[in-house]
Amino acid sequence: MNRVRVLLVLVCVAAALFAGLLAWRVGVFGGRSGGANPGVTSTGTAAIGGPFALIDQDGRPVTEAALKGQWSAVFFGFTYCPDVCPGTLQALKAAAGQIGGKADKLQVVFISVDPQRDTPQQMKDYLSAMEMPVKTIGMTGTPEQVAAAAKAYRAYYKKNGEGEGYLVDHSTAVYLMNPEGQFDRVLAYGMTPDQMAEQLNQAIN
Ligand code: NI
Repeated sequence: MNRVRVLLVLVCVAAALFAGLLAWRVGVFGGRSGGANPGVTSTGTAAIGGPFALIDQDGRPVTEAALKGQWSAVFFGFTYCPDVCPGTLQALKAAAGQIGGKADKLQVVFISVDPQRDTPQQMKDYLSAMEMPVKTIGMTGTPEQVAAAAKAYRAYYKKNGEGEGYLVDHSTAVYLMNPEGQFDRVLAYGMTPDQMAEQLNQAIN
């Protein structure tokens, strides 16, 4: 009994020390990052996009060169996504149907944030089922490749849940990139197809 008590006291002391250490670290580093961060520079233009190396739905290596020569609606998601991703694809599909010949200058780029399940074949099956009216490229890769691409686009994602039915929380913006592969504007999630078509009409000439 005494031994158990001593052990309990030791565990409590260790836990208290650990909590104190955590609080101290959070206090120190949280305080620092709350102020001016010398590692971050702010400019007038958002640096969204950049080089990436991924695998397309046919299993071929693909880079940012795939964005050249076309307007590209780039977004991050996963094929098992229950709502946001199918909704985004449906909105893009409807919007593309409203911009006439300009749709020929547009492609959709869907980059998976779930490389564990989104194999190239899975991407291909998913996108062909969506029957997109414009060229649509599905991209996936190794976890590292996907992480690097998401970072370049400032896209956020995080696995949510365990087991086979896990979800992946992810940012919802569609990035419209111009034919030079540079960021033009965001098509925000929740825009109606009309609003999306208006933005596409303004951008694409
Ligand atoms: Ni999604």
